[in-house]
Amino acid sequence: MNDLSGTTPRKGSEAFSHLGRSVEAIRAELGIEPVPVEAIRDPAVYELEREKIFRRTWLKVATDWEIPEKGDYKVKELQVADTSVLIVRGKDGVVRAFHNVCTHRGNKVVPNSDFETFGKARANVVSCRFHGWVFSTDGPLRSVPMEEAFGKLDKACLGLREIACETWEGFIFINLADPPEQSLADFLGDFGKLFAGYPYAEATSAFRYSTVLECNWKVALYAFSEGYHVPTIHAGSLPGFSGVEHSDFKLIGPHASSTIYGLGMEAASSTAVFASRLVANDHHGPRPDLLPPGINPTGRQDFQFELPNIFPNFLIHLAAGCGYPGIAFFTHQFWPLDHGRTLWEGINYFRPARNAAERVAQMHTNALHRNAWLEDTATMEDTYQGIRAGVIDEMQLMDQEFLIRHAARNFDAHLAG
Ligand code: FES
Ligand SMILES: [Fe+2]
Repeated sequence: MNDLSGTTPRKGSEAFSHLGRSVEAIRAELGIEPVPVEAIRDPAVYELEREKIFRRTWLKVATDWEIPEKGDYKVKELQVADTSVLIVRGKDGVVRAFHNVCTHRGNKVVPNSDFETFGKARANVVSCRFHGWVFSTDGPLRSVPMEEAFGKLDKACLGLREIACETWEGFIFINLADPPEQSLADFLGDFGKLFAGYPYAEATSAFRYSTVLECNWKVALYAFSEGYHVPTIHAGSLPGFSGVEHSDFKLIGPHASSTIYGLGMEAASSTAVFASRLVANDHHGPRPDLLPPGINPTGRQDFQFELPNIFPNFLIHLAAGCGYPGIAFFTHQFWPLDHGRTLWEGINYFRPARNAAERVAQMHTNALHRNAWLEDTATMEDTYQGIRAGVIDEMQLMDQEFLIRHAARNFDAHLAG
């Protein structure tokens, strides 16, 4: 565990000090041309994305703290890859991922009626409810009812089909390629190193919001990837914000990030000020020293969060308590269900509240995010309908929308590659 009570500056800032770029540098690298919307509109592009992105790249599907004990499992439906994934901590403590598919006749080993399900394997086995085949939590087929009636059954070859599974900072990723083209560490590269070391695993108190949106998944991803919309769409939930500032743009392989400052925060609502004061002086208060090296280097008080965007569908917001009383970080993830349907998940992660004041501050953040995310998600189906109307062929992107430009370029590159 990291000691959150100290104020020792994070080490290693010099190693990453070159990564933050100016607007001019970003314009020079990514250009300023409009970006075509055909990749959002065309169902054929979605089929390519399934094949060349979602079945080949590392995807965050769970966290260590969701399945902390031996036998704990999570089932995650991955419609985008036509499979259901069982992520389970074996009796050796190792987290593995398997296709949740019984090798007898293909039934789901662990039934799952929703997008994700949690459970615990008793005696470190999971048993298919159809005919009772039993699998160890590390994969092998352990027993088959009436085995002699099969004549010949090569049980050694009939274990659960394993999926590549690796962990970064407590986030569990899978890769459906067999074998993956690169390790998770190589995939994340310097991006993973830059954002390592943050006390993610201590924020075990999670609050999840989700909904299914009738829009292409990139419409949802893009809407959460820029701050240009804050003064307009969030005028209700964030009164007083005159806008946001994106600074210190970082492009690292297919991943990108920038620092978000809130402008006009002094006009925050009295409830927000009250919530901030509740936690201002304890370990949930602003802790810029917890941030990765080089983030908010001058200690600006209007720092909101750092916005790491992990290719292809995972956003982390590192708030470090600054401007978000009680919060450690929050995430967004965008799961395609179909070309025009998307499961969006927003999760607030807090360190467990130690007293009523911290609890109140956390509930304030949850309510604030709920309201803001309702405003965000309310745009997405309209945007998608507008794009499908065929009236515009391009998106006009300003500097604060650079994450969209960067993501679109990377999607194109993956589909072409
Ligand atoms: S399909 Fe699983 S035991 Fe028959
Ligand atoms: Fe927003």
